[in-house]
Amino acid sequence: MAWYEIPNTNAVSIYSALLFGVLTVVFVFRLWLKATCGKFESKVRMDGKTVLITGANSGIGKETARDLAKRGARIIMACRTMETANKARDQIIKESGNENIFIKKLDLSSQKSVREFADDINKSESKIDVLIHNAGYANTFNKTKSVDGIEMTMATNHYGPFLLTHLLIDLLKKSAPCRIVIVASECYRFCRLNLKNLNPIDTMPGYLYYVSKFANVMFGLELARRLKGTNITVNMLHPGMIDSGIWRNVPFPLNIPMAFIKGFFKTTEEGAQTSLFLACSEDVKNISGKYYLDCKEWDLQPYIIEEDKHKILWEESAKIVKLTEKDPKI
Ligand SMILES: NC(=O)c1ccc[n+]([C@@H]2O[C@H](COP(=O)([O-])OP(=O)(O)OC[C@H]3O[C@@H](n4cnc5c(N)ncnc54)[C@H](OP(=O)(O)O)[C@@H]3O)[C@@H](O)[C@H]2O)c1
Ligand SMILES: *[C@@H]1O[C@H](CO)[C@@H](O)[C@H](O)[C@H]1NC(C)=O
Ligand SMILES: *[C@@H]1O[C@H](CO)[C@@H](O)[C@H](O)[C@H]1NC(C)=O
Ligand SMILES: *[C@@H]1O[C@H](CO)[C@@H](O)[C@H](O)[C@H]1NC(C)=O
Ligand SMILES: *[C@@H]1O[C@H](CO)[C@@H](O)[C@H](O)[C@H]1NC(C)=O
Repeated sequence: MAWYEIPNTNAVSIYSALLFGVLTVVFVFRLWLKATCGKFESKVRMDGKTVLITGANSGIGKETARDLAKRGARIIMACRTMETANKARDQIIKESGNENIFIKKLDLSSQKSVREFADDINKSESKIDVLIHNAGYANTFNKTKSVDGIEMTMATNHYGPFLLTHLLIDLLKKSAPCRIVIVASECYRFCRLNLKNLNPIDTMPGYLYYVSKFANVMFGLELARRLKGTNITVNMLHPGMIDSGIWRNVPFPLNIPMAFIKGFFKTTEEGAQTSLFLACSEDVKNISGKYYLDCKEWDLQPYIIEEDKHKILWEESAKIVKLTEKDPKI
């Protein structure tokens, strides 16, 4: 006699018991995810502050803009797709009653676009209190080149923000104390950035997105170091696994299991919490060069905090984005 007893061993009841078990596990797991999701509860206001957010037309960026609008901030949405940007802006103004929401065209994958955008901002804005590098692009299975001949993921996620930060640094210094927030990702753990192959256009098919997020963390750490003493803080974050547009390029048939797995991901609103925390919280006013997850400081792996490697990435990136003598140095 077994220690358990199956009351009615027909297949239907076994399957329904199994299904019940699976659903219970799924339910408990979802509850656990909700419970551990870091939330920025503070009611702190952002009246009189200007926040520049890249990729604010969708996903986490849009939720970040929506929340900051409700806190009274003046918001510059730096976007590539005007259609969705206009829709997002209208919706945010309607919901928040805050009319100080502006859209500026920015394609981070194009150095020309980044330069035009930065010129415009430099001329039209008197200060930036928070710069949020949020925009991101992933297309692991279809490698393309930017107009500048750079692998598209690295061009959008690393080189664009690197160039933009340089071109806005004078304005940021004028605005100090101010903050730079970089939306990176825990998936940096899945790869290593090869410093001998910084424009991986013909190699490493699967790793481009992870590599660009690895570069985000290295860039943030080096930027924080270079900006020490300027009252400009730089912090990085992982937003969590979020059900957003970033998965839109996952091809068939991988998109089928993906649709199921995404049911466990956080919402974009939950995904915006750590960005909001780093943009607004008094707790991190004097903190720089740190990495956050669920609104809490989080450790980085030893292989990503090696300073000599950050310096190499910095120097090589400066060449790839063609920084000139006339451009500001950081
Ligand atoms: N979702 C996750 O699970 C997850 C996890 C870790 C980190 N992240 C990071 O979170 C950030 C936000 O992503 P998301 O999840 O909210 O995805 P999303 O909904 O796809 O949003 C990405 C945003 O970036 C913009 N963008 C893409 N390429 C651009 C370019 N060349 N120039 C200007 N903007 C560009 C997109 O604009 P278009 O609408 O024009 O494409 C969109 O607004 C990214 O940095 C991503 O790497 C996300
Ligand atoms: C790959 O991307 C290019 C440029 O965006 C696009 O024209 C092409 O249709 C894509 N190919 C596939 C197989 O998705
Ligand atoms: C920004 O504008 C100031 C003058 O307002 C100018 O001195 C500076 O060179 C400009 N910076 C860039 C990167 O264009
Ligand atoms: C940074 O802020 C401190 C405290 O407000 C101030 O004393 C100092 O002069 C500032 N430094 C710079 C470089 O602006
Ligand atoms: C931040 O630094 C300033 C000056 O260096 C100090 O006056 C202030 O108390 C610090 N704030 C926090 C929250 O640590």
